[in-house]
Amino acid sequence: MHCVRMVTDNLYWVGANDHRLTLFENIHPIPKGVSYNAYLLLDEKTVLFDTVDWSACRQLLENIQYLLGDRPLDYLVINHMEPDHGASIEEILLRYPEVQVISTEKAFMLMRQFGFHLEGHGCIQVQEGDTFSFGSHKVTFIGAPMVHWPEAMVTFDSTNGALFSADAFGSFIALDGKLFADEVNFDRDWIDEARRYLTNIVGKYGPHIQLLLKKAGGILDQIKFICPLHGPVWRKDLGYFIDKYDKWSRYEPEVRGVLIVYASMYGNTEAAAQALAARLCEKGITDVALYDVSNTHVSYLIAETFKYSHVVLASVTYNLGIYPVMKNYLEDMKALNLQNRTFALIENGSWACKSGDLMQKFLEEEMKDMTVLNERLSLASSMLPDKAAELDKLADALAESLQEQN
Ligand code: FEO
Repeated sequence: MHCVRMVTDNLYWVGANDHRLTLFENIHPIPKGVSYNAYLLLDEKTVLFDTVDWSACRQLLENIQYLLGDRPLDYLVINHMEPDHGASIEEILLRYPEVQVISTEKAFMLMRQFGFHLEGHGCIQVQEGDTFSFGSHKVTFIGAPMVHWPEAMVTFDSTNGALFSADAFGSFIALDGKLFADEVNFDRDWIDEARRYLTNIVGKYGPHIQLLLKKAGGILDQIKFICPLHGPVWRKDLGYFIDKYDKWSRYEPEVRGVLIVYASMYGNTEAAAQALAARLCEKGITDVALYDVSNTHVSYLIAETFKYSHVVLASVTYNLGIYPVMKNYLEDMKALNLQNRTFALIENGSWACKSGDLMQKFLEEEMKDMTVLNERLSLASSMLPDKAAELDKLADALAESLQEQN
């Protein structure tokens, strides 16, 4: 059964929702699913913008067939070749032997690497600023390298103002009937998953997103729809989401508050983390979030770390090193290029307390623009009453630092 929605005159969403996939990219949990968006334009020529994951190919084909009826598919525009969008290309080529493919040089190389058979199809290679007319709709191709792969581009339709933005402005969560961001309570129900998507999938390439935002800035007044490859289409309040993307890609925190992430084996380090959270709240700092690193998938921690200005890492010492799950979180932060945050440290060790020095060294020597506060809470096994003054000093230092940024 087809399942399509109209974006605007002659332009339709023909993608699919996926509630079966447990791990996106086989790494990131997606408990609320994900959508693979593709769009079909019915002009003098018919044009499919991107395809979907192989698991959703049948739905895509039914959607296209329903809208095309007896018409052929004339063009396939590929903005991004990662298989969650490009995997169904081969099936489109087989079903529509006359279809011509429009994409970048690198994308054509990737299509061949993935084993797609382009022989017999027109392959139109485009580059930055090239334009193309499908009848009444004229599009411009804009390079978006490393958002999120090197071949990526976005396509702007100057006739209806639709920006096919590839991975940019995407989000986790299946659409389930809704298509537009204004059909959901995005700020309440979607923003956390949008942040988790962006920071974990494309977070490393902040400068490249900035470059794309600069290019989009030049045509901002003409953009009426942002049509990403995941998540809802934006037709209202575009500035809200563009501003979020701007912040995330500049590695600027959204919230002045404290994220506390603890690694605790028997509950003693956790108790210190909880005591600190309570002290902060007593001081009026209530924007505090607390997570157990062992029980929270790192993709959630990364998203929260992008959100908050201050991060407290509380870790036991393990094999004379940083607790492995905490180390993995730190490595992920580094891999995703996170920078410009203020950290405070809580360390614990019953017989050789090393985790504080090691975490500080990692933050200062392996990451960019990270500040580590001088005050540190150092525990030998557990948080005893004699540590109350140290805890207070740490809470005061955080409060002062938060104030400085105001
Ligand atoms: Fe949703 Fe980079 O693919």
